[in-house]
Parts: sequence; structure tokens; C-alpha cells
Amino acid sequence: MDCMKAVIIGAVLSVAAAERRFPAGFKFGTATASYQYDKGESIWDRFVHSRPEAISDRSTGDVACDSYNLWREDIQLLEDLNVDFYRFSIAWPRVLPTGFPNRVSEDGARYYGDLIDGLLARGIEPVVTLYHWDLPQPLQDLGGWANPLISEWFADYARVVYDLYGDRVKTWVTINEPTVICDIGYDGLVAPGLESEGRGSYLCTKHVLLAHAKAYRLYETEFKPKHQGQVSLTNQLMWFEPETEAEAELTELVKALSIDRYCHPIFSGAGGWPPALERHVAEKSAAEGEPRSRLPPFTGEELHLLRGSYDYLGLNHYTTRTVRRAAAGEAVGTYLFDGFRELGVALGARPEWPATMSHWFMVHPEGFRALLSYVKRQYGDVPVFILENGLSDAGTDLDDQPRVDYYRNYLEQVLLAIEQDGVNVVGYTAWSLLDNFEWMDGYQSRFGLHHVDFSSPLRTRTARRSARYYAALARTKDIHAEYEFHKMAAEL
Ligand code: GAL
Repeated sequence: MDCMKAVIIGAVLSVAAAERRFPAGFKFGTATASYQYDKGESIWDRFVHSRPEAISDRSTGDVACDSYNLWREDIQLLEDLNVDFYRFSIAWPRVLPTGFPNRVSEDGARYYGDLIDGLLARGIEPVVTLYHWDLPQPLQDLGGWANPLISEWFADYARVVYDLYGDRVKTWVTINEPTVICDIGYDGLVAPGLESEGRGSYLCTKHVLLAHAKAYRLYETEFKPKHQGQVSLTNQLMWFEPETEAEAELTELVKALSIDRYCHPIFSGAGGWPPALERHVAEKSAAEGEPRSRLPPFTGEELHLLRGSYDYLGLNHYTTRTVRRAAAGEAVGTYLFDGFRELGVALGARPEWPATMSHWFMVHPEGFRALLSYVKRQYGDVPVFILENGLSDAGTDLDDQPRVDYYRNYLEQVLLAIEQDGVNVVGYTAWSLLDNFEWMDGYQSRFGLHHVDFSSPLRTRTARRSARYYAALARTKDIHAEYEFHKMAAEL
């Protein structure tokens, strides 16, 4: 497009479009995760090398975006995006090569220290995730998240990291998405790729939550008094709609399984598992000849440790599912997770929800507002920090108007949740800063505000249209800022 014409369209449109602004203190950021960007020895290394067929393009995260070497360049991209914060994860095996604190890697410790200092020097707040799926392989060899001792091991690791960076990092995310770690990792699809017929996933759920709680309490008693930071975990929460009204009650049980299993023990007043789910799994387990419920109970002490172990509620959201009763013997849909079989449900999507590059992901912005309102109804006025949201595409087009539309439309729903439903949303994180190793989809599915050329040893980064939209959004907090301009420019 002729540049002058673009400037004129922009000037006209920016005056014409009504503002839709987030409140003054609201923060915008963007996010990445260590294995998708840099690497250490982890269950993902073992998985992609021992089961290459599990990854759609048979790629690995060995080099990925090479942020390990290119982090200075990435800080510049963040500065250009005008973001308030950058969410990244620390690779446990990069800091503790054995998984245990007997040996701290000087190189790993220096790397994250330099990154944190580099961000702070540019006025970008580091938001640090302790665990984004790359468990040290030696710990997996001891049972991983199915071993109850792992909550101690995780707290030991957390202590090392808090000691190293607690003076500079004020927002911590203990664990990213227990649902993926447990429900998909222990029922087959992602690393470590175990098949456990529901047993491993529920054990894992309990131990992941306890690991979070121990790391939270450790910070609360030993670090918070000095550093005054905030700690929580982040859950990937889908929204669920009944396919027909007849399935409304069943859908409530699906929410208990998928949303509340990971929230109720921490954020509810009573603590413990969601009662309806606890009953259901106990009955099912008994009916299927198990000596005890597959969902392990909490002791009184554990319940107490977990309840209230948060300073905010971290939430990752992408998509919505419809729910209906499964026919006898029917395969249940998106995940192999045994919990859905146990409930006798099949998950789907409405035909009008646009598909994306990820097989599990259909676009339905209204689901975001419904989810946020549900969270408020269930857990009250807790500050909600959105720690991931974004769109996957094939990544070929720098002119990614559908991604701009996605951000605008999903953020509109966040604004409605704030304004109409009174949800206390405090920040929003775009996933992701760069295209990266998208787990089972390898490099075929792209989420980046920036394109990455994975065929080049330089891993060249190039801003997409969505990066320019997001930079205007983060600067003005107005979802319409430059929106019409980009839309018209994309059409020309
Ligand atoms: C999340 C995950 C991210 C990213 C994103 C898109 O579940 O935390 O690492 O891959 O999904 O699939």
C-alpha cells in the first residue's frame, strides 16, 4: 500500500473509532516458555528424541528460538511492543542439572540473572514461571509427578530460584497448566507420554497442587517479608457449553472436572476437591472394582496448606468446548484423558466457531467472558491475571489480520467481564512473543507476534501486523487503537 495513503487512512480512522480502554493500572505483556525457546535436559528432550513420530513435523526444541543466545534481541522486541511485563519460564534442569539442589549450574544461574537485569534496565517487569513442563529427566525416572516426594523436590528448586532472583522478581508463577502436565502427560499425549488409565493423572493433580502450595508457603514465610512479591499458579481453563439444555447438569460436572479440580482446593473458602466431582470419581472407582477412589483424598493438613495459597488467580485461555452425553463405547474427543470417559461425556465445538492451526482450538470469544464470570461466581473477587491468550495459524503471513481480530475480539470480552460482570482482571498476556516449538505440532503451528525463520541459523525475527497492533494496544490500553487502520491496510 502507498505509505501516504496509509497514514491518511490511519489519521481519519483513529479519530473516528470510539475508544474501548482498559483501566489505568491494567498491565499488558507477552509470554514464552523455556523448552519452547531454550533448553536443558528434560522430559521433553527424552520424549522428542525417543518418540519422534509423536511430533507432527518430527522436529525438536533442541535449538528452538535460540533465545538462550538471542535474548538481547528479544528484549528489544519487547521494548518495541511497549509491554509492561514479560512472562518467561526458567528451565529447572538448566539451573539444577540433576534436578536436585546439590549442584547449581553457574551458567544457568547467570543466564536468567542477565535476562532479568536486562529487562529491568528497560523498565519491563519480569514475570517468572518456575515450571513450564520441562521436568528434569532424573526426577521422571523416580516417578515424576506421580511420586508424592516431588512436592518437596519442587520446593527445594523454588528455594534456589527465589534465593537467586527474589530481590528482583516480584511476580512468580509456580506451575503452568497442571491440566496439561497431568491429564495429557499421564494419559498419553505429551511428555512423559505415560498411559495410566486415569490413575497417574489424578495422582499428578494432587502432587502438582501440593508442589505449588509448598512453593507458595515457602515464599510467604521466608521471602515475602523481604521482597513483597506475589505468587500463584496458572491454569489453562477452557469454557464449556452444553450442546443442548438437556446437558446443562452434565456440563456442570465437566466444569468441576476441568476447571474446579485445579481451582477449588486453592481458591475456594472450603478448600478440598469440588464435592460433586469427588463423589462422582469415588462412585465410579468403586463400580469399576478399584479398592479406593482414583482421585486421592487430601489430609486435613494438606487441605489447609492448599487453601488460600495464592496472591492472584492465574488463567490461560484459548477456546471453548460443547458438552454432550457420550454414546456407549464412543471415543470422547479432544483429549484421551480418562476423566472424560469416567464422566461419560463427548466434547465438541459448534460449526460456526472458526478453526485454527491447532486441532484442539476453535475461536469463540464469548466463551472468555463467560469463563471469567464463572471464576468470579465460584471464587469471588480474587485478582485475575490472564497469563496466556493468543491465536495459532500456519505462520506464513506477516499480514496476520485474523490474529489482530482475535486479540481485539477476545479483549473486548475481557473488557465486558470487567465492566459488566465486575471481574477483577488485572493484566493480560499475549501468547506468544515469537513463533516457537509448539509441542506436538512442532513448528507447524505458529502463535508469534513475530515470525521466526527456523531454517536460518540466525533464527531471524520479523514483526507481524499483530505485533504492531499489540504495541499500540499496550501503549494506549485501547483495543481500538490502530485497529481500523490495520484492518483497512490489510484489505488494500
Ligand atoms: C499453552 C501452553 C503454551 C503454549 C500454548 C499454545 O497450553 O502453556 O506453552 O504452547 O498453550 O498451545
